[in-house]
Amino acid sequence: MGKPDTLGRERMTSRFRELTDASVDAAAIRVVRGPGRVNLIGEHTDYNDGYVLPAAIDLEIVIALVPTDDGRATITLDETGETASVDVREVGPRRGDWTDYVAGTARELTSAGLGVRGFRGVLASSLPEGSGLSSSAALELASAWAMSPVGGPAVPPLEMARIAQRAENEYVGVRCGLMDQFASACGVAGGAVMLDCRTLEYRTVVLPDELVICVIHSGVPRTLVASAYNERRADCERAVAAVRRQRPEVRALRDVDLGMLAQATDLDDIARMRAIHIIEENERVLATLDALAAGDMPAIGELFGASHASLRDLFEVSCPELDLLVELSAATPGVVAARMTGAGFGGCIVVLTLPDAVDDLRARVERDYPARTGRTPRLWRVRAAAGAGELTD
Ligand code: GLA
Repeated sequence: MGKPDTLGRERMTSRFRELTDASVDAAAIRVVRGPGRVNLIGEHTDYNDGYVLPAAIDLEIVIALVPTDDGRATITLDETGETASVDVREVGPRRGDWTDYVAGTARELTSAGLGVRGFRGVLASSLPEGSGLSSSAALELASAWAMSPVGGPAVPPLEMARIAQRAENEYVGVRCGLMDQFASACGVAGGAVMLDCRTLEYRTVVLPDELVICVIHSGVPRTLVASAYNERRADCERAVAAVRRQRPEVRALRDVDLGMLAQATDLDDIARMRAIHIIEENERVLATLDALAAGDMPAIGELFGASHASLRDLFEVSCPELDLLVELSAATPGVVAARMTGAGFGGCIVVLTLPDAVDDLRARVERDYPARTGRTPRLWRVRAAAGAGELTD
């Protein structure tokens, strides 16, 4: 457990020179970053045209690079020294590894009419892979910046998020919504960002000064996430289809309320449970905005608690380890709110807490969680960070 690693410009330029080419002048090396994200509330709502409230965080992927004229992204991993190279102009078939996110982003940037350029780079990450903190979106955004001229892709950040989402949907083959790429592209230092996934309007939501964000990793590897995720999407689509038989104007669960759902015949219990979660989770996002604005800590705690219970019981994407972490956190004096975050099936919880309670939270989790699960938790105190961009210091 510890503070986020810092992948500053100085360290990255010296790693670039050590691992690739010591003759390159440090001033000629660009350093770009793509942040991970933590979702505060609004889970599985993005692909139902609903609301989400994520924050980009200061756990991130950083690439130090110089542009090349060979049309290839050649990347050395800081951690292992492994080097991989992909053709960014003529993107080949998927390889089934991390380079797919780079190749898919190159392909979608090109189809969007944006030029891509090859580069030679060194990649470092403070984002634990497979933790549910969106290392894939971070990699898509960091590589989009690396393949673009200084200043980044020539589109607004929200459009860049949609390009990266297409890379993941169409090239990598995961049917994710827009939230992760949105947070990584449009994040704001010091605030969460609320996105209406239907209108694509978004705005910064500043958290009360006295709240800090912690992320706790359960240590449960996220397995079968893609297939379970796609099943949940299919459940939601079934619910929409059933409601549409009576209400043809309905396009997504965003348009459905509990009364309409009650009238829908021909709806299996599973799809009904999933739909209730989505309808109520959207309401919880809006209520959370009010509670944050009013600094109403008990209300924030209740909303997070209800969101977690609904993800556990109705959407069925939690697991005993995440439930235990939420229980231990909520029982710590000074902790305001806790819930699982991200797709689920392992990964992390998010905790909003008063700063003085962080040490107690850490102590309690380190003491009780391994004893009851045999797993090692990891806790990070994170800050809301800006979206992807050039790293200048
Ligand atoms: C994953 C997906 C997101 C979103 C969340 C659940 O992170 O990539 O689009 O659906 O799960 O809220």
